[in-house]
Amino acid sequence: MKRAIYPGSFDPVTNGHLDVVERARKLFDEVIVAVAHNDEKQPLFSLKERLNLLQQTVGKIDNVRIAQFDGLLVEFALQQKANAVLRGLRAVSDFEFEFQMALMNRKLEGNVETIFLMPKEEYTYLSSRLVKEIARLGGDVSKFVPSLVASALGKKFKG
Ligand code: PNS
Repeated sequence: MKRAIYPGSFDPVTNGHLDVVERARKLFDEVIVAVAHNDEKQPLFSLKERLNLLQQTVGKIDNVRIAQFDGLLVEFALQQKANAVLRGLRAVSDFEFEFQMALMNRKLEGNVETIFLMPKEEYTYLSSRLVKEIARLGGDVSKFVPSLVASALGKKFKG
């Protein structure tokens, strides 16, 4: 059984994340999309809201499971009997942080391998941070996120 963890803040999930999930689920028997608690990042969406949005977008796919984790990613991976961690790599700008994290995770736990997947080129510029900024300033985010995420963002900013 090849099982991989796709960890992240998913604050909120974007079309870029969905693209990575689609690619990953063809490579692994099971993909666990794992939402980090990440309280120090002060997310816009609560953990429950982020889990809900993921559940409604990718949670119904056969070999995809949504989970949450607190603490070290590699420990969660071991607990779930996953030997791969997946990360999306969009551009060179992602590389430094991702490289550092992958090597640190390898130092912490040599049995968990980090695998990078490149989303479609059209998502190269896409990030949850920019989507939130556009939504906050009243811009249209419907091309960047699933429709239920767009309406959740609308509710956050328009009340
Ligand atoms: O979507 P993000 O915010 O880029 O995801 C970052 C995430 C959640 C993957 C990273 O912060 C993480 O792995 N956090 C768990 C704590 C941990 O294991 N830290 C050590 C990393 S070397």
